[in-house]
Amino acid sequence: MPDEPPAGDRPRDNPWPDDVVGLLEGIVTTRAIRRFRPEPIGENALATMLFAASRAPSGSNRQPFRFLVLRDGPRARAARSLIGRAAREQWANKVVSDGYERGSGVDVDTPKARIAATMARFVETFEDVPVVVLPCLVRYREPNPSDGASVYPACQNLLLAARALGYGGVLTGWHRVVEPELRRLLEIPDGVFIAATIALGRPEGRHGPVRRRPLREMVFEDGWDEPAAWALDPPGTRYTAAGPPTADGWPSNG
Ligand SMILES: Cc1cc2nc3c(=O)[nH]c(=O)nc-3n(C[C@H](O)[C@H](O)[C@H](O)COP(=O)(O)O)c2cc1C
Repeated sequence: MPDEPPAGDRPRDNPWPDDVVGLLEGIVTTRAIRRFRPEPIGENALATMLFAASRAPSGSNRQPFRFLVLRDGPRARAARSLIGRAAREQWANKVVSDGYERGSGVDVDTPKARIAATMARFVETFEDVPVVVLPCLVRYREPNPSDGASVYPACQNLLLAARALGYGGVLTGWHRVVEPELRRLLEIPDGVFIAATIALGRPEGRHGPVRRRPLREMVFEDGWDEPAAWALDPPGTRYTAAGPPTADGWPSNG
C-alpha cells in the first residue's frame, strides 16, 4: 500500500459548490450589471467574493488593496446616499454632454436609449443597490502611474467571483465628486486611494457574452499595427465599436 498523500495533496470537496461557471466562460460573459433584484447578498457569498478579490496579484505581493463594504449600517447608508447623489449629478451631466436626449438617445428601441434608461434607473435607485464596495489602495510611495495595477485586478476578481456565484456588478467612478465628504464620513486616511465604487447584487437581467472590438484590431505581432494572423475571435463572436466620444470611459454598450 502506498503511503497516504499529505493532507494538502488530497482531493478535497469543492469548497464553492455554487460555482457553476467555467473560468473562461465566466471571463467572457461577465457584463456590467446595473439592474439588481431587491435581494441581499448572503454573507458567505460576499466573503467568497472578497476572498477571490484578495487573491489578486499586486506588485511585490504587497497586497495594498483594502475593501470597504457598505451595507446597511448608519454610516454605510450615509455613504451610499452621498455616492447616489454624486451618481445622479454625473449622469445628468453625461446625458447632456453625450447627447442622450437627442437622436437615437430618445428612440426607445436603440441601444443608446436602453443604456440611458438603465443608467437613469441605476442612479435613481443607487441607495437600494444590495452591496457597495469601495476598493482602496494603501499607498506606500508617492502616486505612481502603475499604482492601479495593484488594485484593479482585485476589482475584476471580485466581479468574476460575483458572476461565479450568480451575482453581478459594475465598477464605477461615482464616488469621485464626493470624495472629501466620503473620506471624512468613513475615516479613510490620507494616503489611501479610493480606486472605485463597485455595485453588487443579484442581476435582474442575465449575464452573457460581452461585446468588444475584433481581436485583429487589438492584437499586433512583431511591431505596432502588424497583424497577427492567428489571433482570431471564436466563431459566432459579436462585436461592438461602441465607445463614448470622450476619453473618460463609460458607458460603451450597456
Ligand atoms: C475604469 C472604469 C470606469 C467605469 N466607470 C463607470 C461609471 O462611472 N458608471 C457606470 O455605470 N459604469 C462604469 N464603468 C462600467 C463600464 O461602462 C462597462 O464596464 C463597459 O461599458 C463595458 O460593459 P460590458 O462589460 O457590459 O460590455 C466603468 C468601467 C471601468 C473599467
